[in-house]
Amino acid sequence: MRLLSARLSARRRHPLAGLVVLLLGLGIAGGLYATVAPKPAEANAAQQELVADGRKLFLVGCASCHGKNAEGIMNASGSQQGPPLIGVGAAAVDFQVSTGRMPMAQTGAQAPRKDPLYTDEQTEALAAFVASLGPGPAIPAAEDYDYEDATEEEIVRGGELWRTNCTACHNFNASGGALPDGKYAPSLVGVDAKHMYEAMQIGPQQMPVFSDNVMTPEDKRNVIAYVKHLEQQDQPNPGGFALGSLGPVSEGLFGWIVGIGGLVIVTVWITGHGARVKK
Ligand code: HEC
Ligand code: HEC
Repeated sequence: MRLLSARLSARRRHPLAGLVVLLLGLGIAGGLYATVAPKPAEANAAQQELVADGRKLFLVGCASCHGKNAEGIMNASGSQQGPPLIGVGAAAVDFQVSTGRMPMAQTGAQAPRKDPLYTDEQTEALAAFVASLGPGPAIPAAEDYDYEDATEEEIVRGGELWRTNCTACHNFNASGGALPDGKYAPSLVGVDAKHMYEAMQIGPQQMPVFSDNVMTPEDKRNVIAYVKHLEQQDQPNPGGFALGSLGPVSEGLFGWIVGIGGLVIVTVWITGHGARVKK
């Protein structure tokens, strides 16, 4: 024993001993790290490739209005050729591109929904590129907007939220409505659940943002369940006419003008043609 330690201490004094120990230590630590740590390197490489693909697509299809680095472009007149996209998030790009709103065909009051120009993979790449420029809402996962097995209760809750938050623009039956300056809130009939979720996350154009602390993810899903529920029903119209389903004000107005107006006309006719007049 004593002999061994004497030998070791003799070696320790060797000029290279420190270096050997250091290298050994580093080697062990490195090996341990490699076995324990996740493998971010591959994921990163795939992500970087996606971002690079997205940048290429962006330069060709979007930069003319939004700028090479998505910094936005101002026209000489001071209006925006395209707004900056830094921080709008992947959800905004996915919404705009997969509903065909972007690339905008020509500048106008509002980019209309049309057939998408990009494939799903290209859209994902564009979204990854824009998301790499600044943090913003991510594309929702399928379970976030899965409304299929919503309970009756959840649909009712969704209906309440719908009536307080959405009907002012989208109408009671989700058929949409006009807004000032040639803009409009579109009909939501047939809109993908994913696009509904994204619209609430990002608030396109005049639409307010319903962030998670204003409307929880569960409530967003309930609203979707309610709108889908509306869609599936043929709206019954027990009174006869739907009157454009514009809600109580228009229906009340209709009642006043046509109902009371009609009564007034009948009354006038009766007094004009009644038995007493003939006397
Ligand atoms: C002809 C010009 C034009 C082109 C091309 C264009 N955009 Fe836009 N983009 C606009 C304008 C103008 C707006 C703002 C008006 C609106 O939202 O309808 C906008 C809005 C957006 C928004 C919403 C920003 C926000 O604040 O939520 C996103 C995201 C977007 N564009 C992405 C793209 C992508 C991705 C492309 C390429 C595939 C593209 N755009 C091509 C003009 C353009
Ligand atoms: C202040 C008016 C306003 C309110 C309130 C509003 N929206 Fe919107 N919404 C709009 C406008 C305007 C657009 C179209 C934006 C565009 O085309 O860029 C829109 C677009 C949408 C779309 C996209 C439809 C499509 O064709 O792709 C969905 C989905 C949507 N809204 C759902 C909702 C829901 C759900 C609520 C309530 C939680 C709501 N909106 C509240 C104005 C509104």
